[in-house]
Amino acid sequence: MKKLLFLIIVIFTISYLSMGQPLIGQSQATQTQDVFIAVGTLNTDLVYKVSGKDGRLYQVYIGTKLGSIDDLKNVRDAGHPAYATFGTDNLFEPAIRMTHNDGNPSLELKYISHNIEKTDANITITNIILKDPEYPVEVTLHIKSYSAEDVIEQWVEIIQKEAKPLTIFNYASSMLHFDANKYWLTQFHGDWAEEMKIQENELTSGIKVLDSKLGTRAHKYQAPIFFLSLNDKSDENNGELIAGTLGWSGNFQFLFEVDEKGSLRVISGINPFASEYTIQPGKPFKTPSFIFTYSNHGKGLASRNLHHWATNYGIMDGNKPRLTLLNNWETTFFNFNEPKLVGLLDDTKKMGLDLFLLDDGWFANKYPRNDDRAGLGDWQENKVKLPDGLGYLVKEADSKGVKFGIWIEPEMVNPKSELYENHPDWILKLPNRPENYDRNQLVLDLTNPKVQEFVYNVVDGMLTKYPGIAFIKWDCNRMMTSSYSVYLKDKQSHLYIDYVNNLYNILDRLRQKYPHFPIMLCSGGGGRVDYGALRYFTEFWASDDTDPLERVYIQWGYSYFFPSFAVCNHITSWGKQSLKFKTDVAMMGKMGYDIPVNEFTEKELKFSQDAIADYKRLSDIIWHGDLYRLVSPYEENRAVLMYINSAKNKAVLFAYTLNSRYNETFNRVRLQGLDPAKTYKLQEINVSSEGRRSGTSESGKSYTGDYLMKVGLNVGSGAALSSAVFEITE
Ligand code: DGJ
Repeated sequence: MKKLLFLIIVIFTISYLSMGQPLIGQSQATQTQDVFIAVGTLNTDLVYKVSGKDGRLYQVYIGTKLGSIDDLKNVRDAGHPAYATFGTDNLFEPAIRMTHNDGNPSLELKYISHNIEKTDANITITNIILKDPEYPVEVTLHIKSYSAEDVIEQWVEIIQKEAKPLTIFNYASSMLHFDANKYWLTQFHGDWAEEMKIQENELTSGIKVLDSKLGTRAHKYQAPIFFLSLNDKSDENNGELIAGTLGWSGNFQFLFEVDEKGSLRVISGINPFASEYTIQPGKPFKTPSFIFTYSNHGKGLASRNLHHWATNYGIMDGNKPRLTLLNNWETTFFNFNEPKLVGLLDDTKKMGLDLFLLDDGWFANKYPRNDDRAGLGDWQENKVKLPDGLGYLVKEADSKGVKFGIWIEPEMVNPKSELYENHPDWILKLPNRPENYDRNQLVLDLTNPKVQEFVYNVVDGMLTKYPGIAFIKWDCNRMMTSSYSVYLKDKQSHLYIDYVNNLYNILDRLRQKYPHFPIMLCSGGGGRVDYGALRYFTEFWASDDTDPLERVYIQWGYSYFFPSFAVCNHITSWGKQSLKFKTDVAMMGKMGYDIPVNEFTEKELKFSQDAIADYKRLSDIIWHGDLYRLVSPYEENRAVLMYINSAKNKAVLFAYTLNSRYNETFNRVRLQGLDPAKTYKLQEINVSSEGRRSGTSESGKSYTGDYLMKVGLNVGSGAALSSAVFEITE
């Protein structure tokens, strides 16, 4: 309410008419004056021009904020098409392609009007309406700018008023153009347990596509994020680049095309692959959002911009604290019973954690979920493992002073399940062909309203019956193959899009009823990490690979686009590194545990209890501080990063030595983001167990910010798989 009052809603429409310009649709000859539309953030400008000559919309500038856009008015170059169509004179990849219902395969878009909504002091939405002069098809470009965060979000709405439905083949969320000498594309690819591998390559003439065709769990193969550096490769602090991402949890496509003049067009949106879409007259088709930030100070600034944006707008309850937890997946897998779980509740308490998360294997009776071959879809407590039901565990947790959370995978089904037996038509599978399994399961048909109701009720039914449940982990363990929807009939090419939109509808409905309920997004690890889903989720499971050495790279990769509070890192038995190293690695994000605590020695238990207490004390800095990546594991045998709060009086630094050659010594590391005039005291934490220290003698010393940023710190030892965490206090 208070926030509502705070919002000043000013909507003003600047129509072409009101500016004394002729309406589009009138002949080109009557239009003489260009109109400029600038979409700005604090440090960035994106400028469009409506050409007085042809009434089309062009992009004339993207980059560092201009003192004034007036000089652009003297530039004779027409600019680049803001949203290129297919079928008339565009020779390159279009942003939009459609066939009208008279069979005409072309679209021409001319400017009609634009309006600007200022929803508060920070957010401006510019809506630019374009229309085909010959056909009743209107395309509105929406550009939402978040000034303080320097982030811009773009999406498009297409509406047609023809007599019959028409088909769209391409429907990008965004089209951007760049003119640089060279272009460097950084992509993040991977697989199960290998998320976020980084590759950087020069773009040369022709087309490069980053995409996914996997349907669900779409970016098991490629994450929907990229950096595009202009002219030279960028590093953490230098270089001009954009960081782009699509808020879409299905098939996506980023297409980069360098033309004959060396200009680059970047088209971002839903992957048009096998997804031509029929739009009904009067029913708008809305694309997901392309979200980007422009930085002229390297990747570090771009990440911080996105982190700020995600905290304030992109991730559910980004400003609120998170729960630390003990998970049982890697400790028990499917093999548990009530007494074992009660023991884990005790361990949760003993460790000082907030919540116990019961993972897969707690449900199904006719086909018990004792491994991944059966039971998925039958969301009733397994009577053998949980004779007293979930209610008992919720009560037990409560009596011990911890919270209780639960794992679900509501979009999926095992053929060995009652759900499969009762509703074969609820499942995506091809007629006349064998079923195609992945992890022994199939995908439910979310385009079917009955299935939507079922999925909603899996969650709502459980939370209504057991209101004490405090957390959900929502998993999704397979991609789509051999898919066919009985419900969609002759509209099979709508499947990939309707699936995701209906998933969002279910989540929307759940969020109306449970607005702040914490839910972890999981997809066999990090198979579905994007800002479309994260609007509904409070955090995500980054990878099933919990080996801490691997995790340094995986978490490093996520840090480019996602803030630390959302990246769930668990300390597990995977990997032979010390408990200290595992703890230090998990601590750089949202720390949790999935390890047999009852097998801890006294020392290990004490170390972990201290680490959790320190983590809780410092989590605000780690979660909401500014991230500075100081040494990349891709460049040296170590990784060093730090978070610092906005007052610049408290920071936390993490240093990991990954590998080392004989007698290897590492250079000092210059810190960043400190106040040069302040004096900071260094205190090493996480040192109590196993007598391990980082091997540096910096703990306890004080230095000025100036010294730390110019001379630097000796942050760790040369020993492979050693680590250090420093608390840095003014
Ligand atoms: C995949 C997830 O990534 C794991 O953490 C775990 O929840 C399993 N699924 C359970 O089947």
